[in-house]
Amino acid sequence: MNDYEITFLSQSDVRQASGFDMNQAIHVMERVFALHDSGDYVLPNKTVLRWGDNESETVIGRINSMPGYIGGEFNACGIKWISSSPQNPFKRGLPRAAGLIVLNDPETLLPIAVMDGTLISAMRTGANSGVAAKYLARPNSRVLGLIGAGVQNRTQYMSLSTVLPHLETVKVYDVDVSRAQRFVKEMSTMKPMTFEVVPNAEEAVRESDVFVTATVTKNPIVKAEWIREGSLYVHVGSNECHFEVIEQTDKIVVDDWTELKHRGVETISIMYQEGRFDENRIYAQLGEVVNGKKMGRENEHEKIYFNSVGLGIEDVALAKEVLSYARIHKIGKKINLWDAAVFV
Ligand SMILES: NC(=O)c1ccc[n+]([C@@H]2O[C@H](COP(=O)([O-])OP(=O)(O)OC[C@H]3O[C@@H](n4cnc5c(N)ncnc54)[C@H](O)[C@@H]3O)[C@@H](O)[C@H]2O)c1
Repeated sequence: MNDYEITFLSQSDVRQASGFDMNQAIHVMERVFALHDSGDYVLPNKTVLRWGDNESETVIGRINSMPGYIGGEFNACGIKWISSSPQNPFKRGLPRAAGLIVLNDPETLLPIAVMDGTLISAMRTGANSGVAAKYLARPNSRVLGLIGAGVQNRTQYMSLSTVLPHLETVKVYDVDVSRAQRFVKEMSTMKPMTFEVVPNAEEAVRESDVFVTATVTKNPIVKAEWIREGSLYVHVGSNECHFEVIEQTDKIVVDDWTELKHRGVETISIMYQEGRFDENRIYAQLGEVVNGKKMGRENEHEKIYFNSVGLGIEDVALAKEVLSYARIHKIGKKINLWDAAVFV
């Protein structure tokens, strides 16, 4: 048998091959949610490799394995393998998360590409919230609150500032003030907007039309009494709000309730496990809103809560777009998986 080549894309290749284009990422995620709602996907449960219980994830870390097939125009399958070591940025000067994505050919099922998954993962997570905000935030939202000045809130900012054209103020809080300051220094060069480092989480929530929690905490931060009428809360991390926040919200929208229940570490899934949350309270999965089966925001007063656990099909779809671009523009390296297969 002849030799067999796969494509390898480093992070800079992924970036060059449209992987840092937030408009594209939002468009791809909107399509993924639509296909998710119409059932054109295969999504085995996320498998988590960890060295202890839920709490160990915030100390030692974990590695998630996220396979999936997404149909429609993508017709793509593969897997994201992504690690998280929350102490990396503080103890080792390394990123918390780092990932690889492997794509397979949907017909032969052979592997066709291996690429950096770190950037794609951050971009698709930001883009998910962009799609949510498009349907669930007040279109005239002006103030954005960001709790956690890490990687995810960088792409949250990129995407929310794309879909909410009236945003003018961004309030940033992090337990580590130097990280919040660095965030503002880096992100304020992207678009003309007023950035403020605020001294506590409450100030990032109280006046905000949209606020995001993307931290590595295991202790709830956000309190129900801080949340203003008409706001959208985008919950990206795991257990970041008090139960009352979810109890007092008007609409609860999630990416995939089955996956949230399975993962089990988010506030809403913890409430469910403890018998404090009736799943009939979930208003919609985001794909139902995208496909027009359910209304998004219906008035200026609703408090809406959106939680995304993150789905392997999102990574696979965006990786497929990046690979297609890379092929057309000859980006990346071809690597022989075998020269002559030992067995056929
Ligand atoms: N839902 C999804 O699809 C999805 C995808 C990727 C990451 N995540 C989650 O997003 C979270 C953030 O990831 P990241 O890559 O930005 O991590 P990161 O390490 O880059 O940044 C996390 C930040 O949170 C700050 N922080 C910790 N405790 C805090 C607190 N109590 N209040 C305020 N700030 C606090 C840290 O100082 C740090 O700056 C993680 O929990 C990760 O698992 C979710």
